[in-house]
Amino acid sequence: MVQRKFKGTVPSYSAALLTLGAAAIHFAAAPAHFSEYLPYGVFFVGLGFIQVDLAVALVLAPRRRIYAAALIGTLTVICIWLLSRTTGLPIAPQPWRPEAIAFPDFAATLLEAIACVLFILRLRRRTPKRRGVVRVTLRTVPAALFAPLLAFGGVGGALSPMPDAYNTAPYVAGQTSRSVVDLVAHDGSQPLKEFRLTASQITVGGHKARAYNGTVPGPELRVAQGDRVRVTLVNHLPDATSIHWHGINVPDAMDGVAGITQNAVPPGGTFTYEFIADQAGTYWYHSHQDAMNQIPDGLVGSIVVEPKDATTAHVREYSVLVHAQPGSDAIEVNGTSSLHLDAAPGDTVRLRITNGAVPGLDLAPLTPVLVGAPYVVAALDGHDLNGPQELGPERIPLGMGQRADLMFTMPETGAVRLLGLKRVMFPWNSPSTPVVTIGDGPAPASVNVASLPRFDFTQYGTPAPDPVADAGQYDVTREIILGGGIAFRNGNVDFTDTFSGMTSPNIPPIRVREGQLVRLRVVNPSDHSSHPIHIHGHVFTVLAKNGHPLTGSPVHTDTVLVGPHETWDVAFKADNPGIWMLHCHILEHAAAGMSMTINYDGVSTPFTMGSRSGNVPE
Ligand code: C2O
Ligand code: CU
Repeated sequence: MVQRKFKGTVPSYSAALLTLGAAAIHFAAAPAHFSEYLPYGVFFVGLGFIQVDLAVALVLAPRRRIYAAALIGTLTVICIWLLSRTTGLPIAPQPWRPEAIAFPDFAATLLEAIACVLFILRLRRRTPKRRGVVRVTLRTVPAALFAPLLAFGGVGGALSPMPDAYNTAPYVAGQTSRSVVDLVAHDGSQPLKEFRLTASQITVGGHKARAYNGTVPGPELRVAQGDRVRVTLVNHLPDATSIHWHGINVPDAMDGVAGITQNAVPPGGTFTYEFIADQAGTYWYHSHQDAMNQIPDGLVGSIVVEPKDATTAHVREYSVLVHAQPGSDAIEVNGTSSLHLDAAPGDTVRLRITNGAVPGLDLAPLTPVLVGAPYVVAALDGHDLNGPQELGPERIPLGMGQRADLMFTMPETGAVRLLGLKRVMFPWNSPSTPVVTIGDGPAPASVNVASLPRFDFTQYGTPAPDPVADAGQYDVTREIILGGGIAFRNGNVDFTDTFSGMTSPNIPPIRVREGQLVRLRVVNPSDHSSHPIHIHGHVFTVLAKNGHPLTGSPVHTDTVLVGPHETWDVAFKADNPGIWMLHCHILEHAAAGMSMTINYDGVSTPFTMGSRSGNVPE
């Protein structure tokens, strides 16, 4: 039997379209590759041209040899890609280091893989069938729809790469005269408190964690108001890190934001932070490099600034930091799921609660509840409230980063408990909720936590004059509408979280001059998410919720929790020159775009964020 030779005169429009789609993505990715690593740029342009030629050949000269060459060539490209994503390549900016997968390379590879299937089908068919125009057109429809769609996603992602060096406030001759690195604490003779925090990798409960001085959380730092605090960070981690003093208005050079106020401290490096602790209160410290990963991994700790007027001498003082248990869905308090704190009947206790835990799947704030004794909310975010009234058990909403100080007197008999530290996770993996017990004896009668009222600070405490709230007029105003959606960003098609439709680093900074009063209106139109919006280097005076001014004590916070369908007006005095972050403290949201800066006129930074410096503050 005579086999008819494959004449190869039937073009494959589908394979050509798929190959063209891949070529488009390679061309789009080339500029970013050129700036990252020249050989990659050359490779991508070369590959793009070869694929265009191939697509033309598949239509004009569809011979068997062409299909065979296309198959071998395309499979080779796929193999190179697979290697680069698994073992890494020998010729690369960092040889033998696997690269991350982003949508563009996924899309190009998928197009190529489908093209390979078509090549194989053609090669197996010994007798090419001629078909009419209609049938050829119909058979090309799937590829004609699919290839442009994938190419669109791939090209869009590739054309919006992560900036390799983004400067939030570049030096401009004649316009900026001060660099953030010069914004340090003034000399003085304040009592010096020195600490050393060594960041290293440890194992807790079988999970890899990162720790300060070997514990999660790191040690509580306690200083007195007015002290000069000097903390040396020693980095024994395999990657770069930094420390941010959340809520403390440090000089800008000490703010610890990688890529804005310093370069992330490399492995083996050190950095000394120094500031004067003027503000009494409950604060916390955490990494501000790759914070999205380093904070849940354990790089957190409490810092308490005790007030100068020591009328609090007979108060039992505890800082309780709620944080993620590294490598798990559980949350803990001070490193344990059942914390016991000593207190005797009649003692006055000040419980300084910090929420340092990433929220659960509902993105809701934590709502701790104190049972067993009436209490007052003495402070929020470290700032005392005026004339706080005694409360029965209420749920106290704390978004990530926020603090509340509860003060109470121990009952004559029995213990007091902090409950309700529940984080919603997948039901099949629901982790236990930690409990804090204060004092000894029988536990307080159990309560149905979910049925308790929510504490509302907008009508709590006693009014008092407040220079920022009473000003009524503001020099700078900005409305920030919280939102999100799918967009091209950082070389990918991704979910983004947005401030007024924009993502970092493309959100225009809030420009201020020293001495100005600044008002922000933060609007959350969403049905579900709560966003704790955090300011660096300044303290908000909360003006109004949903347009209603506060009726109780003035409230000063560094983080304002903006719940679903809420609008908050906050204001601050620009009294700390620098370049300061303003971001959602749900770190995934910050990393997905909810991050911007407040830039003082005349201040510049020499530091950049992005792939070149490796500084990624979120
Ligand atoms: Cu708790 Cu930008 O930080
Ligand atoms: Cu958020």
